[in-house]
Amino acid sequence: MAALMIPANTLAAKRRMRVRSSASRKDHAIVKEFREGCAAPLPVLRRVAEGIAADMRKGLNSDGGHSLPMIPTFVNTLPSGNEEGLFYALDLGGTNFRVLRVQLGGKDGRVIDTEFEQVAIPQDLMFGTSEELFDFIASRLGTFVQKESGKFHLPSGRLREIGFTFSFPVKQTSIDSGILIKWTKGFAVSGTAGKDVVSCLNQAMDRQGLDMRVSALVNDTVGTLAGARYWDDDAMVAVILGTGTNACYVERMDCIPKLQGHLPANGDMIINTEWGAFHDSLPLTEFDKALDAASINPGEQILEKTISGMYLGEVARRVFLKMAESGAMFGGSAPDKLSTPFVLRTPHLCAMQQDQSSDLKLVGKILSDTLGVDDSSLGIREMAIDICDAIVKRGGRLAGAGIVGILQKMDADSKGTIFRKRTVVAMDGGLYENYPHYRKYIKEAVIGLLGSEISKNVVIEHSKDGSGIGAALLAAANSKYAREF
Ligand code: BGC
Repeated sequence: MAALMIPANTLAAKRRMRVRSSASRKDHAIVKEFREGCAAPLPVLRRVAEGIAADMRKGLNSDGGHSLPMIPTFVNTLPSGNEEGLFYALDLGGTNFRVLRVQLGGKDGRVIDTEFEQVAIPQDLMFGTSEELFDFIASRLGTFVQKESGKFHLPSGRLREIGFTFSFPVKQTSIDSGILIKWTKGFAVSGTAGKDVVSCLNQAMDRQGLDMRVSALVNDTVGTLAGARYWDDDAMVAVILGTGTNACYVERMDCIPKLQGHLPANGDMIINTEWGAFHDSLPLTEFDKALDAASINPGEQILEKTISGMYLGEVARRVFLKMAESGAMFGGSAPDKLSTPFVLRTPHLCAMQQDQSSDLKLVGKILSDTLGVDDSSLGIREMAIDICDAIVKRGGRLAGAGIVGILQKMDADSKGTIFRKRTVVAMDGGLYENYPHYRKYIKEAVIGLLGSEISKNVVIEHSKDGSGIGAALLAAANSKYAREF
């Protein structure tokens, strides 16, 4: 009982003292150097925010040659709430694939009913052929459509319409077509790059005998923004922090020079920044560089590799491995599991950081079960938490700097209208949703950069699963039957 009376910070201090006596000097040096290399203090965050804003302008000016593609999405209107009817959404973008149907009831009925199914993407499909991947998607969609019950209603004579959320960089050619620029997040499917992904899906649906129409092709950020705007008129930016990362926002047409002469210069368009490709001024360590070099897309998606869920655990594993190889930690030799890339995942990091037990039992269990490090001392467990914290703190703070970079660019171009009123940044993705420390670090960075007064107007809000409904809403807005409502 007495221990319960000791404040948490005193316990932490006691733990730290014991750490020093049990871990080797070499281990401490590695952790110290890593923490310093990862540090993202305000001046670094400022440079990142300014760099993102500057690259946004370059990417809006012309295609190619800059880190941010700034992809026009051909989404000019966000949902108004008037959308009605039955729509499907199909979501491909990370470790899971989702299908969803929603019955929309206009201003009064809103979302009358919704159903969804989620399946893990089999690993082999991530490295297979385009046909195999799209056939898998179309067959799952077909099975899901067959289960449509009487709660959902499609007027006779109409085709079922789909909003296709495809969360990879795509050069959109219209609201319902777009060419894959490259795969990210560990996908390396052959035969899709340079092809229209809607045609790939249509062909697969034909092969399955499925008669449906893709009426909107959207990135997950765009789906999230549409989903958030359905409920909140102030939603202007959407950010995904999941397996991968990205952001989109509402841009004025007259601020997109590369579209001038092609489209009317009035109104707005959602721009998909593909910010995961940003790479300047980032605090990178030898471990990040080695991770990038060993990846299937070296030199690409550097911000993504620094802040998104797919990579956080792998950075930590690389630090642990160096400690094992270079010193006393883990008994001087690396267990096999510790040498296995991507064996340590972001949920492990999160669980370790949340371990409140005095002997860090859960940390010990994860080190043993996942990395093959048995009988870790308390000092080693404490160091493991330090490493996780350094990685997660850098990730959250850089994500915060990215949000500020976008808002500052929007604010500068709209004579202060962003910061003077309530502006909502809709967030989604497993990393954001499930990692409280990460969320805290985002917030701290935003407040640090904008100051406490301005940041009161910036509402960073979780828009749970908004992307699926958002894609269905955009399918409704672009329905070929839209005028018949
Ligand atoms: C993709 C983006 C996507 C993001 C989040 C990135 O790897 O390039 O298109 O929005 O992941 O899913």
